[in-house]
Amino acid sequence: MPSGKKLKATIRRRKADLYVNCYNVTRENIYGKDSLMKSSKTTRRLFETGYGYFTNGGSAYVIKRPDTPRPWVNILANPNYGMVISQAGGGFSWVDHSTLSVLTRWEMDIVRDNWGKWVYLRDNETGELWSASPQPTMTRLDSYECEHGIGYTAIRLKANGIDSEWTLTVPPAEDGRSRAESMFELWRVKLHNRTDRVRKLSVCSHFMWCLGAAPDSKREFHKLFIETAWDTEQGVLTAKKNLWEVPEPRYGHWNTTWPYIAYHSSWVAGQDNTGRTSACGDHGMFTGRHGDWKSPAWLDGSEPANGGFGRYSDAVGAISKQVELAPGQSVDVMFVLGAAETQNEIDLVLSRLRREGSMDETLSRVEQNWESLLGAVKVDTPDDAFNVLNNTWLMYQALSSRLWGRTGYWQQSGAFGFRDQLQDSQVWLPGDTDNCLAQIRLHARHQFADGTVYHWWHPLSEVGHPTKMTDDLLWLPFVLTNYINETDDTDALDLKEPFIDDTEAVSLWEHGRRSINRVLLRMSKRGLPLIGEGDWNDGMSGCGRLMKGESVWLGHFLYMVLKGWIEFASQYGYDEQADIWEKAAEDLYAAVNEAGWDGDWYLRATMDDGTPVGSNVCKEGRIYLNAQTWAVIAGTAKVARGEQVMDAVETHLHRKYGPLLFTPAYSKPDQRVGYLTRYAPGMRENGGLYTHAGVWAIQAACKLGRNKTAWEMFTRIAPPCRGMDPDLYAVEPYVTPGNVNGPDTGKYFGQGGWSWYTGSAAWLRRICMEWILGVRPERDGLVIFPCLPPHWDSAKISRPFRGDMFNIEIRQDKTDGQSRMEVDGSEHVFGEPIPSSGKRAARKVIVYIGQ
Ligand code: GLC
Repeated sequence: MPSGKKLKATIRRRKADLYVNCYNVTRENIYGKDSLMKSSKTTRRLFETGYGYFTNGGSAYVIKRPDTPRPWVNILANPNYGMVISQAGGGFSWVDHSTLSVLTRWEMDIVRDNWGKWVYLRDNETGELWSASPQPTMTRLDSYECEHGIGYTAIRLKANGIDSEWTLTVPPAEDGRSRAESMFELWRVKLHNRTDRVRKLSVCSHFMWCLGAAPDSKREFHKLFIETAWDTEQGVLTAKKNLWEVPEPRYGHWNTTWPYIAYHSSWVAGQDNTGRTSACGDHGMFTGRHGDWKSPAWLDGSEPANGGFGRYSDAVGAISKQVELAPGQSVDVMFVLGAAETQNEIDLVLSRLRREGSMDETLSRVEQNWESLLGAVKVDTPDDAFNVLNNTWLMYQALSSRLWGRTGYWQQSGAFGFRDQLQDSQVWLPGDTDNCLAQIRLHARHQFADGTVYHWWHPLSEVGHPTKMTDDLLWLPFVLTNYINETDDTDALDLKEPFIDDTEAVSLWEHGRRSINRVLLRMSKRGLPLIGEGDWNDGMSGCGRLMKGESVWLGHFLYMVLKGWIEFASQYGYDEQADIWEKAAEDLYAAVNEAGWDGDWYLRATMDDGTPVGSNVCKEGRIYLNAQTWAVIAGTAKVARGEQVMDAVETHLHRKYGPLLFTPAYSKPDQRVGYLTRYAPGMRENGGLYTHAGVWAIQAACKLGRNKTAWEMFTRIAPPCRGMDPDLYAVEPYVTPGNVNGPDTGKYFGQGGWSWYTGSAAWLRRICMEWILGVRPERDGLVIFPCLPPHWDSAKISRPFRGDMFNIEIRQDKTDGQSRMEVDGSEHVFGEPIPSSGKRAARKVIVYIGQ
């Protein structure tokens, strides 16, 4: 074993070998006419760095080298099934739930990133072994690229005279098709022999079955319940699990079966497959005692024996296909991994997939499905980052990671956060408004009759977590207001849903009313809402455990919710309730501006003993962002005070990499504030840029017409812009990260983390549309009040609104200082709502912004 200097040199050499040529990947069209490569060849590269670039008009990101500073992943998902895959090939798959029903084992390790589902390639004459992704063999590659696109990932390698393109996709869940038809992933391994000799290759998949909850800390116990089988004739491997950790009240604790059959199969497109397949079902047999996945024992010889299935093994799935390639010849080796409730369904799905062209057909369904989801709103502005994020990635992220997968590489969750996924569901506005309503109804069913809610709950198990967090319940009326502003569908208020603890269904109006009234019961003597175990900020978990500490931010938020619901109450003839709320709103306004005011900005909170948080007198945590931005957003600050607090935000919080959640960071744990003080100073909620909150500052800046500041904030947050400094920023340039380290982290200032799984994606999109472009729905119609960056000449947006399709062009008009607008060729008072035509018409709006 090399040691010391020698070891270091060996490591350096291996790294250098591995990445040789990775810088100069050419886009030769080596893979034939149906290659995904073709489509990306023609388009302009955007935001190119040494690691990669956007292509296809920004709807795909091509990674040029495998050693990205962190795993740069894609999440391929539909509501029933999903997978995460990194540029190295790491990742895992799930069915229905990304923690409770995980198909393949994975260990969270963003440095090694060495757990995944692999495809090995073996030359059966020379014994050379490598893989279709950099992991697990980490072999020297002649070239590498990974294209993460919308609904697919393709990893393209050249090694040992063979070009490979491994494309993975997950089909959409479509109406008219069975669930089973959406519960799988399809892989195509396209191989091309670019040598002048016949090549005899094995193409072998490998992964470990999990079939239940992950991470599986009791692995040796759970593996005892797995049963695998290999159907030699059909070439199908199946796996079941006789015990599922999810409690099933009917049968008792740990006494139920995982309700799916997992399956895995492989075939060579267009070839007779008989006799050219081997399969392995056992970890020991595949990997070898003390072996590893770089050179597994099972792949030592060219034609390994079938084995390792049944009840007594440590279950893995591996299928090896033998192929022969003449010089210049190509072949497609297909694999499917999935789950279904019955064997019949599996047979049906497989018979469809084995037909010629199933990959292309699946990819084109994936493309069409995403086009229809993403295509509802389109923007066209002079800024590529703005376009790329708003036309594609923010919504893709919000749907695949947040609403469907509920997972990322930094957090495997699967649960619904009461406030989280409600906020995320706003991404369905304005395109698929019914889906937003469905999310609202789902959350209403997770409310208790007294108005309180689960902080989060797991679908499937329905296990939830009641807390003393005091804001969760208010997101229900908040999102319902936004849904109604978009749709004018006030009938939604009459839709009935039960409570967790009361099966009698009541209207959504009643659900919302109970939320608000519950919060109004939890007010301090000074008229501020209590913070309990936290409000939006989970980490302020210590401030109000005795239910005495107050939240100023929640005061702003409650005020905004009340304003919307006072309108509903009056409209519905609930005058008495409207009067009560009117009075409550007035009192709250006064309390926030008196008890909540610190002199130069708003306090964030008070602790149970009255100590202020976010005050000039605090050494750490002196000024908090949300308490200022939401005063502007909610309208609790009069204009002059709004300007004053946003000045304070600009002075103290608006830093090089976006607006900090607060400053200075806490240097040591303070139980009285909560667990956010337990993070290292400057990280995440402890004084970092918490992207979810950071984007609200853009909205507040726009509301005050501070277009320069709003734009600066946008560019400091926007991943494509930050991604131009990839070694510092570290995370993916195409999706928002949960946080970026603040200045108190020293040399780590500016480094991103917690990518994908963040509420900032849906919010940033909404704020870009509604506040930068300024096209926002109100009860009376569509308001257009842009806050464009000063250097833009014009911008376009098309979006549906209550049946009409609006095509809006915004022009900076240098002729005079007057802003004006034309709607369908006629003058319209600038800033006044445009009602829907009621005729499903195409509307044309031109807005001239006076300079
Ligand atoms: C996490 C939580 C979210 C919370 C935020 C701030 O993202 O999921 O609910 O609002 O942190 O603490």
